[in-house]
Amino acid sequence: MTRKLFVTTALPYANAPFHLGHMLEYIQADIWVRFQRMQGNTVHFVCADDAHGAAIMIAAEKAGLTPQAFVAQIAAGRRQYLDGFHIGFDNWHSTDAAENHELAQTIYRALRKQGLIAERTIEQFYDPVKGMFLPDRYVIGECPKCGSKDQYGDNCDVCGSVYAPTDLKHPKSTLTGATPVMKSSEHYFFQLSSQRCIDFLKAWTTTPGRLQPEVLNKIKEWFATDELGHVGLNDWDISRDAPYFGIEIPDAPGKYFYVWLDAPVGYLASLKNLLDRQGEDFEAFMADPAVEQIHFIGKDIITFHTLFWPAMLHFSGTTSAAGDYLPRKVPSHIFVHGFLQLSGEKMSKSRGTGISPLKYLELGLDAEWIRYYIAAKLSAKVEDIDFNPDDFLARVNSDLVGKYINIASRAAGFLSKRFGGVLSADVGVEGRMLLDGLRAHGNAIETLYEEREFAKALREIMLLADRVNAYVDQHKPWELAKAAGQEAVLHDVCSVCIEAFRLLTIYLKPVLPALAAQVEAFLRIEPLRFTDAQRGLGAHTIGEYQHLMQRVDAKQVDALLEPAQIELPPPGGEAIAAEIKVDDFAKIDLRIAKIVDCARVEGSTKLLRLTLDVGEGKTRNVFSGIQSAYEPADLIGKLTVMVANLAPRKMKFGVSEGMVLAASHGDAGLPKGAEPGLYILEPWPGAEPGMRVR
Ligand code: MSP
Ligand code: ZN
Repeated sequence: MTRKLFVTTALPYANAPFHLGHMLEYIQADIWVRFQRMQGNTVHFVCADDAHGAAIMIAAEKAGLTPQAFVAQIAAGRRQYLDGFHIGFDNWHSTDAAENHELAQTIYRALRKQGLIAERTIEQFYDPVKGMFLPDRYVIGECPKCGSKDQYGDNCDVCGSVYAPTDLKHPKSTLTGATPVMKSSEHYFFQLSSQRCIDFLKAWTTTPGRLQPEVLNKIKEWFATDELGHVGLNDWDISRDAPYFGIEIPDAPGKYFYVWLDAPVGYLASLKNLLDRQGEDFEAFMADPAVEQIHFIGKDIITFHTLFWPAMLHFSGTTSAAGDYLPRKVPSHIFVHGFLQLSGEKMSKSRGTGISPLKYLELGLDAEWIRYYIAAKLSAKVEDIDFNPDDFLARVNSDLVGKYINIASRAAGFLSKRFGGVLSADVGVEGRMLLDGLRAHGNAIETLYEEREFAKALREIMLLADRVNAYVDQHKPWELAKAAGQEAVLHDVCSVCIEAFRLLTIYLKPVLPALAAQVEAFLRIEPLRFTDAQRGLGAHTIGEYQHLMQRVDAKQVDALLEPAQIELPPPGGEAIAAEIKVDDFAKIDLRIAKIVDCARVEGSTKLLRLTLDVGEGKTRNVFSGIQSAYEPADLIGKLTVMVANLAPRKMKFGVSEGMVLAASHGDAGLPKGAEPGLYILEPWPGAEPGMRVR
């Protein structure tokens, strides 16, 4: 029985190009989808840009573009990544497309009809200059605990305390520098805390086989009732006030859906767009109980996909003519993966430790190498995955090329030169035993693909390749070729090698689609499916062997890892602060300071302790949050610029007597997950400690 699968990956924010973490998700899903297709199953595999939200609106404004033009620019860059890494989406759409506006509004209306939408007035920070409510990350101020300046609205980088934006002292809007005011506004809530929702979600999440065990455990924590009897799920605030780049809420002028409401609806919008173009009926497709809906996502967006999204779907159904409630289709599975790291560290673009997928392709590295490498690390667990350059080199060169590709190159030449490319129809007992052994593992490998245990599948396949190589080493075709009267044996041995190579190619094809296509052309066969493993080729004529795959050159990997050239700043950059008078500036006493000593601060991951000479006949102690960017030893002896008349500040680790200046992009303009680069200032030669900067 063939399956009907509707498969998606998470919709990436349309504010930045892809990084390698995105490619990991696409590669994982693509391998699974290709496997399903090789089984004869039908798959609709779609994605889209996640276009909406305050962050994108602001980034567009800074770039001097309309949000529509801004996201269109990002969308135009997607193709080269997807094609480059052989990701076979059937459609790429946008959450700002007409289908999504319509579907999101329809779903909302249905939820409202179900009585699951509540209105409530909430108070929030508002930027009176910009005329806009401020999301938490757009408010900075002094930490209410330790007094550190320029801390974000949710937690303090210096002392680590957690608070609400309204707790900040001297709060400021990062957009205009204005002091935010409290303002109330009517918001719409999806009543997730209702018993109906909780009952549904408990049943949906605990359906056996639906979710990975570790994901289910997390969810059980969210459901947990605390000692006061409060149920763990809160209603979900789904509205935002204008100005907002998003979808208007029906019958609520000036209100928009919060981006996370319409983002998953984008899965359906992309599918609908695809089906419409194919002349198929979207509603009928989604009403078909045989269709399995599957979302591949990363571990940071589990709540949205395991609570909000299934509840939205279940409660936005229709009523039949007979008056029965017909819920929408809910996801069959959410498949969650961990994060990609680089040699054990979180990827960071600005510090040059990230790997740009485009640079990978531009340097001429083969997309199938990294597909193979990532697959060799993926399991069904929510585990982080490490990109380790040495390991990458070893796996591609010794396993992929050394064990697998070599089988073909060792046998094909003799076949075409000595036997006109015709395979031996009967390879004898020993050869048949080897091949039957390889075939016997087909089912186990299929199960591993189905269960997303790609690392285990590849391990299994490489063990089979080892067997074939042992067979070649034992029979030494290069010696048979020279020996008299060994023609028939040589023919059989080489034919066994080619058939073994074909079987291994079937097993590897979900991971290496382009290579498999080359092999199919070389062997002159139809596109391989898993069922093709059962029948041999017989006296089939194969083509000339052409070189199939290079080894990785260590130099290419070094070039890939070289710190990125100064990358263009992310779209936007920080807005210029509110205007000041020259007198305001004159109040700040900036001095040249010599860093006479510098050390890490025990117990802090952010701070360095600087001992500064500003020509006062004594030194000053200053804490600076630059540990991520500099080694203490590199700073000692350097000149820099400090604010010398800042009131001393008592911090957890001692008193700070001033502040050194450093350049950086504000977080607001950075892609999610990227760390801002930090650069302290250094004067031109000739400046001396104590000189005033004006
Ligand atoms: N726009 C939301 C998703 C909406 S889905 C209806 C979003 N976008 S994202 O661009 O930040 O992330 C897209 C996907 O990439 C997510 O599944 C996320 O977990 C994944 N990854 C982001 N960084 C990653 C790594 N470093 N490694 C692996 N996956 C990563 O979230
Ligand atoms: Zn603090």
